[in-house]
Amino acid sequence: MGEPVLVVSDLRAYYRTSAFGIEREVRAVDDVSLTIEANEIYGLAGESSSGKTTLIKTIAAAIQPPLEVLGGSVVFNFRDRRVDMHGVDRQHLDAIRWKNLSYIMQGSMNVLNPVRRIRHAFVDFAFRHIGKPMPLFLAVVREHLERLHLAPEVLDAFPHQLSGGMRQRVTIALATVCRPDFIIADEPTTALDVVVQKSVLAMIHEIQRELGSSIIFVTHDMAVHANLTDRLGIMYAGRLVEEGRTADIFRAPRHPYTAHLIASLPRLGDSAPKKGLDGAPPNLAEPPSGCRFHPRCPRATERCAREAAPMASLAPGHRVACFYPEPERSA
Ligand SMILES: Nc1ncnc2c1ncn2[C@@H]1O[C@H](COP(=O)(O)OP(=O)(O)OP(=O)(O)O)[C@@H](O)[C@H]1O
Ligand SMILES: [Mg+2]
Repeated sequence: MGEPVLVVSDLRAYYRTSAFGIEREVRAVDDVSLTIEANEIYGLAGESSSGKTTLIKTIAAAIQPPLEVLGGSVVFNFRDRRVDMHGVDRQHLDAIRWKNLSYIMQGSMNVLNPVRRIRHAFVDFAFRHIGKPMPLFLAVVREHLERLHLAPEVLDAFPHQLSGGMRQRVTIALATVCRPDFIIADEPTTALDVVVQKSVLAMIHEIQRELGSSIIFVTHDMAVHANLTDRLGIMYAGRLVEEGRTADIFRAPRHPYTAHLIASLPRLGDSAPKKGLDGAPPNLAEPPSGCRFHPRCPRATERCAREAAPMASLAPGHRVACFYPEPERSA
């Protein structure tokens, strides 16, 4: 395996606000480290508010107050350059955005300006990167749309004239037309019905294989992860708690939180009632001491309330942050 395309080390990003003289700090991303290889789809899962969007915003250097990066680093090794995302200036980031790195934001259909035709979005985002005269540029765009099973006429449409599924495909076309090395997609299919979702996911897979790009794919939908991703990172309350090959995590989850996530998935022919987790998701302004999952964890001991277990390898490529992981299960 070559050099990883993305190396995230000890990343820490908090929302810091001050109201009526009271400082508040939401610890949305705490000491997250991960690496992503060329040509892989890395899934990021975890319940709502676990910090998924904050983590990828920080990776993409799309940081706005009150979000602040307090520590750690994010380094990309693109095909043609190495970029320390928090060490370069705005201009540098603009140069790599869309060309090397594209970011499909949560609710990203909003990148399409409602009063401008789709054609303008392609010109605004991609024209300067593709470096061809306008007629040739538009030919490249049309060919790309065709690859994504979209008719060239969508270029003349306004966003409201397209269905949700088509808008989402247009967004993916925009994100991939410059053939980026790396694509970040935050819940790109969550708003779609199952049939459209399936076709959009197939398209993402197809284009990823063709371009050889790496993808971080964020969704809380475990069924989507099972079908699409090569590796999976599980977040709980701002921390990465487990990471491994997707198939291994589904077969034998080791962190009690992941075990709960997998056990609560519906299965064919399984009529046993699903059990929810006791307790509420933690407030990240005052996270629990030690392991943030301990108040809800069936395996927790007194040590878990005092200390947070660091991520440690339990098997090659399988890391877990837990002192008392679920026992290994053979297939
Ligand atoms: N602008 C903000 N100011 C203060 N806190 C914020 C802000 N945006 C997000 N948060 C908090 O940061 C934490 C992580 O939120 P984030 O959006 O990253 O979660 P998520 O895992 O993407 O959730 P979802 O699955 O609902 O998209 C939450 O506690 C959230 O309330
Ligand atoms: Mg989110």
